[in-house]
Amino acid sequence: MIVLGIETSCDETAAAIVRSGREILSSVVFSQIPLHQPYGGVVPEVASRSHVEKIGGVISDALTQANLPWSAIDAIAVTYGPGLASSLLVGLNAAKGLAVSLNRPLIGINHIEAHAYSPFLAPTAPPVEEAFPLLALVVSGGHSCLIEVNSLTDYHTIGQTLDDAAGEAFDKAAKLLDLGYPGGPAIDKAAAAATNPAAITFPQGRVQPDNPGLGTMDADLCASFSGLKTSLLYRLRENPPQSTADINAIAAAYQAAIVNALAERCQLALSRGHYRYLAVGGGVSLNRSLRQRLQQVAAHTNTPLLLAEPRLCGDNAAMIAGLAGAGGGITGLAALHLDATPSLPVGQPN
Ligand code: KG4
Ligand code: ZN
Repeated sequence: MIVLGIETSCDETAAAIVRSGREILSSVVFSQIPLHQPYGGVVPEVASRSHVEKIGGVISDALTQANLPWSAIDAIAVTYGPGLASSLLVGLNAAKGLAVSLNRPLIGINHIEAHAYSPFLAPTAPPVEEAFPLLALVVSGGHSCLIEVNSLTDYHTIGQTLDDAAGEAFDKAAKLLDLGYPGGPAIDKAAAAATNPAAITFPQGRVQPDNPGLGTMDADLCASFSGLKTSLLYRLRENPPQSTADINAIAAAYQAAIVNALAERCQLALSRGHYRYLAVGGGVSLNRSLRQRLQQVAAHTNTPLLLAEPRLCGDNAAMIAGLAGAGGGITGLAALHLDATPSLPVGQPN
């Protein structure tokens, strides 16, 4: 099955064509980062306008790069949540229009589930159906969660950040440190240049068991990064950095707090469950220190680690077409009735 995937949940306009859920025939991503840079974060109105402008060209580029005619497309897959409502709507409406006019099925995809699937697009990854149950760590700008995946339609969130997601924590720190937007890559770079990364420590974001946001999740597998950001703010007020070296040291310590929190929770979850793989995706999984720490966790727990390829860590449509082609998502008439769902939870249709 050849699937055209469309993704517009945040600030990337993306289209991709994937065969049989595995083979990427094309993947086009138009990043809006320069548009949002002056504001230091994504401006929803600016994002949706840009999606409207770019979506047509991005989709036709995906066909051209795959060297395929419209008639070769067997299904259209699209992200319907979570994300920004006005951004999601652009991709969803384009996909519905294409599905109806080409007379092809529409498949509605959850963005977070697609990030969890993204490591399976690597040519060296095992077939996804042989990987269950697996533990997925999805770390992005809007979400950081640990998900038990029993099949492509059976997901169970066992831990998550209760306030700021990991990417958000990176972005906010970079703003405070004047390192620019997006913050993750800037902190990653500054931290790598630190000469004494252990000089400063930040709190690790533990969550108390009586936290009302936990629901059925275990406090030990959840994290809170808002306190981390506050302690950075206080540190900068009391002890303003005097040099690039000071900024690098702070960035390294801040990054270590996030990376350790994520790695420790993965390790705990892996030691408690019987998972065949640890699969990791989302923009923050580009972080070099996190990738290294997760290798250690994988070795320690004897769990093979599947990291998304760098080009598939950030938002892209290959993961959308891939998950759809592998059997995930909402299909049939129900898909045509899907609405953009900004707070779509993992594992639930709508
Ligand atoms: O998955 P993604 O592209 O978009 C969302 O679905 O949110 O993730 C974007 C996030 C941003 O917060 C960005 O700062 C972060 O990923 N990010 C990184 C790195 N590269 C991107 N965070 C840490 N280290 C990086 N190298
Ligand atoms: Zn994402």
